[in-house]
This record gives sequence, C-alpha cells and structure tokens, in this order.
Amino acid sequence: MSPGAAAALAAEIAALDAKMLERQRAALRAPPEAAAVEDLEPPELLPPSSRIEDPRVRNAAERGWEELRGGRVAVVTVAGGQASRLGFEGPKGAYPLGPISGASLFQILAGAVHRMRERAGAPLPWVLMTGPENDAATRAYFAARNHFGLDARSVHFACQGTLPALTPDGELLRAAPDRLFRNPDGHGGLYRSLARDGLLERLGNGGVSTLFTCQVDNALAPVADPAFLGFHLGSAARISSKAVVKTEASEKVGLLAECGGLLQCVEYSDLPAAAQQTRASDGGLRLRAGNIAMHAIDLTFAQEMAAADLPLHLARKQVRALGPDGLLASVPAVKFETFVFDALPLAGRGGCLVQEADRAEEFAPLKNRSGADSIASARTALGARARRWMEAAGLGSSASGVLELAPGLAVDAADLRSRKDEVELHGGRLLRLRPHSTARS
Ligand code: UD1
Repeated sequence: MSPGAAAALAAEIAALDAKMLERQRAALRAPPEAAAVEDLEPPELLPPSSRIEDPRVRNAAERGWEELRGGRVAVVTVAGGQASRLGFEGPKGAYPLGPISGASLFQILAGAVHRMRERAGAPLPWVLMTGPENDAATRAYFAARNHFGLDARSVHFACQGTLPALTPDGELLRAAPDRLFRNPDGHGGLYRSLARDGLLERLGNGGVSTLFTCQVDNALAPVADPAFLGFHLGSAARISSKAVVKTEASEKVGLLAECGGLLQCVEYSDLPAAAQQTRASDGGLRLRAGNIAMHAIDLTFAQEMAAADLPLHLARKQVRALGPDGLLASVPAVKFETFVFDALPLAGRGGCLVQEADRAEEFAPLKNRSGADSIASARTALGARARRWMEAAGLGSSASGVLELAPGLAVDAADLRSRKDEVELHGGRLLRLRPHSTARS
C-alpha cells in the first residue's frame, strides 16, 4: 500500500464512531431478538381521513389545517434507496410512474406539496432524505427540472450516513486498499441526517414543530394529510403512524403492534407465518395494522432520536470487498441498518397513535417490476383514484382506459370539486388545468 493510501485508510478508521462500532460488534455477538408473537397486541386504529362524515375526522382535519396554515408543518420524504428491484437506473423517485403523463414519483410528490402550499397559504418546507448512492443524481434531477416550480430554497436535501460493514468475526472490511466497505445506515439515518448541518434547528427556528414523513415509493401518499396531523396534535403522541388493514396474512408489510404497552413495527419476515394468520373475534386478522411507514413526528422528538441509539438490524450478505489476501473477492459480510419506525417504542406509553389508512386512497407502493406492489398495480391504483375523484366531482368520463390527474391538480376529491370549472380532459385521459386558467398546476 502506498503511504498516501495508508494515510487515507488510517484517517477513515480514526474518524469512525467508536461507540457505534462497539454496538455493531455487540449486536453481532447477540443479535436483537424479535418480540414473541403472544406478547403482541393489536393497536387501536383511529378512523381513516376519508371518513370525513365522522365528527372525529372532521375535527382532526380542522386542527391539521390550522397547523398547516400557521406554517408549523414540514414534509419529509425518505428517498435514499435505489430502484434496483424495478430494474431502473437512478433514484427510485425518478421512476416515470404517471400512466399518461409519465410524471415521476418525485413530480407527483412535488405537485402534492405545491397544492398543499397553495391551499394552506403557507411555506410547507419539503425535505428529501437521499442516500450516498443517489444524492448527487437526485439534486441534479431536481435542478434540471427547476424543482418542479417550487422555490429551490424551500426544497432541502439531506444525505443519510453510512456504517462500516463487518466480517462475521466483527472485523472491518475494505472496499479498496485505501477505503473501508460501508453501506447506507438505513432510513433510520433520517434523524441524524436532519440534525446534521442544523436543518432541524433551522426548521424549528422557522416555526415548524411537526414533521409529516412518507416513503418516496408510495404513489398515493396523502402529503401532509390534515386529519392525520390533527389526530397527532390532539393527543399526547410524539410520533404517530398510519396503517392499512391487512386482509392477506401474506402481505409483505411490517406489522404495527404493541408489546408491553409500547408500539413497535415488527417486520413480516420476523414473525412465523402461522402467527400472522391468527384471527380476531370479528373474523379479521388479529394483527392487521400494516405499516405504510407514514408518520407525524414532533420536531423535538426527531431531535432526541438523532442522539438516540436506535436498534441495529443485521443483514448477512456476500459482498465484493478485499479478502484476507488483499485481493478483491466475494466475501461474507454483515451490513447494519436502522429504521425510522424503531423510534416508536422510544416514545413511551401513550407516545404513539395509529390511524387507519384507506388503502385505495393512500397506499400503492412501487417495489417490484411485476406482480404485487408493482409498476402496473401502482398505475392502476393511481388511475382508479383519479376516476373516483372525477366522478365525485361530477367530471366522470366514459373513457374505459386508465385516467390520470395532472400532478398537483388536487389533493382530494373535495379539492378537485372546488376546481372543476378550471380543468379540461386532455386527450380523453389526463385531467389538467385549462391552459388559460390563472392557477398553476
Ligand atoms: C418498508 C418497511 C415495511 C413497510 C413497507 C411499506 C422497512 C424495513 N420496512 O419495506 O415495514 O410495510 O416499506 O411500503 O423499511 N430507504 C432509504 N434509505 C435506506 C433504505 C431505504 O431512504 O437506507 C427508503 C427507500 O427509498 C424507500 C423506503 O425507504 O422509499 C422503503 O425501503 P424498502 O427497502 O423498499 O422497504 P420495504 O422492504 O419495501
């Protein structure tokens, strides 16, 4: 090794977080155990935001709007992953999902942020957490598209950190002679990445006290859902979650469940299949709260989580790294990650609430190339929601194929109804603002 390479490696090792490395090694010796299924209790689910006739939902929505109008909310999107499962090069958010428009996930989200800003008359900052593999590409993507018409100063990027991978014996691995092998620290890195460079502090100084967080791959995410925010704010919760009701035991979503009065998310892969099929007295699944990784988080709680020891999740993999002989080879490694929702139990008893999400309105994850949670299923869900909203607004179409609302046109059916005189059905399929309309889409 050249002296320069040796110095670079020594500097990288010296800069490692010694406490974290010790925690990684301890987790390797004694991996954290998943909770026993008999100790898990289903959480109470508050009614979904679409049930607006329920006075609890109406009141919560009013409370949420007050908060939005007061400029006390910021939107956060975790977008650190690559789209490898989709066979797409580049950040997952750049995937062109719009069935007619070809709008990307980022553009769909940007439209929702824009429309919520318009309706609330408030800045509603938007933070995107990127990852080391897609940070530069994501920033360039937004810059090349003029941030989709959003003021560039109101869109913030925070890149998540990395953790060194270890050998099964707990030794550091090298990706190259002068460099350690590292992997992204999981979406739990959100808290630290937001605290780094003082972003959370700046948001707080700007008046923000609540974060609405969602994953980039949910094409139907109801950005800054007022009723969800209102439920969160009207309770003692410090972090709240949305959950879809699982109808199939085999659905690949984490499960929100209470253990000893503390809410937690248990990954489906950590629960025996038979346990997931257990039924409740109403015939539905006993554990049915499917995690959609959408949260309302107090800013102060996010600040605390930036300094907290979130549990480490281990993934054993073969990776391309330097072997004992110093040559590049496929070697066994252990990668470490943290998860955003592992903050749930740290909020203590009563520190979390769970609201049911209306699946057809709020959740269409884009994970796979085909089959469940795929490009086709997400497009179908976007199209079906567009058709429902159009019918509710008296804009029904007799066209039999898929329909789409242009990004940012409306955030719910009532919103679309309020704009029905400003819109036109372009090409029989894409509902958009009429070109001469004074409003922007
Ligand atoms: C995730 C949840 C699961 C939930 C499901 C809902 C985990 C571990 N599990 O599953 O409980 O039911 O979503 O759709 O998250 N990401 C980062 N940085 C990372 C890793 C991921 O920002 O280091 C982002 C990705 O861009 C993506 C999201 O996190 O937006 C989810 O990651 P993914 O690996 O797709 O999680 P799932 O296994 O689908």
